[in-house]
Amino acid sequence: MTENDIKMVTIYVMGKKQRVPADLTIMKAMEYAGHQFRRGAGCRGGFCGACATVYRKRGSYKLQGALACQKIVEDGMIIAQIPFSPQEKVTYKINELKAEANTFLEYYPEIARCLACNTCTKACPQDIMVMDYVQAALRGDVAQAAKISFDCLGCGLCAMRCPAEIVPYNIGQLARRLESKYLEGPTGHVLKMCEEVKAGKFDAEIEEMKKMDKATIAKKYNTREMKIK
Ligand code: FES
Repeated sequence: MTENDIKMVTIYVMGKKQRVPADLTIMKAMEYAGHQFRRGAGCRGGFCGACATVYRKRGSYKLQGALACQKIVEDGMIIAQIPFSPQEKVTYKINELKAEANTFLEYYPEIARCLACNTCTKACPQDIMVMDYVQAALRGDVAQAAKISFDCLGCGLCAMRCPAEIVPYNIGQLARRLESKYLEGPTGHVLKMCEEVKAGKFDAEIEEMKKMDKATIAKKYNTREMKIK
C-alpha cells in the first residue's frame, strides 16, 4: 500500500497545517507530522489523563475536548494540547475526615459557586456527568459523587472550562476516597493481601528483586502474570 492509497485528512497542530492518515489518533497523527511528545503523553491507552487536548473544527463554533491518545483525527481539526491544568494542591488526612457535604466545602469551598451550567460535563472527553457529581458532593451524597466520577482520569479539561473556576476532578477524587474509606471499607481480598504482606509471604521475593539490575526488573515486570477480571 502506498501513501496514495491511504485516506488523508488535513489537521492544524498549534496552527500549522498537516496532512495525516485519517485513521490515526490525534497523538499518532501529531507524531506522524513530526512532533515528539515530551509532555502531554503517558499511558497512550486512555487511562492516565496526560494527553488533554482541545480542538475546533473548521466551520464550527464549538471548542471541544479530547484525549489525544483516543480521539481519531477528523478533517479540519484545529488542535492544541493542554499539558497541564494549574490547581492549588490541597492536602488532608483521610482518617480525620467525614463523608459529608461539609468536607467538600471545607477543602474546596469554590464548589459552592457551581452555576449548574453543565459546561464541565460538555468538556469531559470521557462523557462523565461532571456537573452531576459536583452537585452530588454539594448535597453530601458521597456514594453518588464517587460512582459518577469513577472513570475520571483527571485530565483537567473540565477545570479549564468551568466559569466558576472549580477543579471538578478534585471533588471526584475526594468523593472516591471518602467512599472507599467510610462507606465501602476495605474489601476482603485487600485485607487478605495485607495480612499476607505483614506475615512476610513476599519477603524473600522482594529481597531477590532488590538484587536485580534494572533490565532484569523491567523484563520481569513486562512479562508478569496479570489477573484481569
Ligand atoms: S496518554 Fe494516557 S490517557 Fe492519553
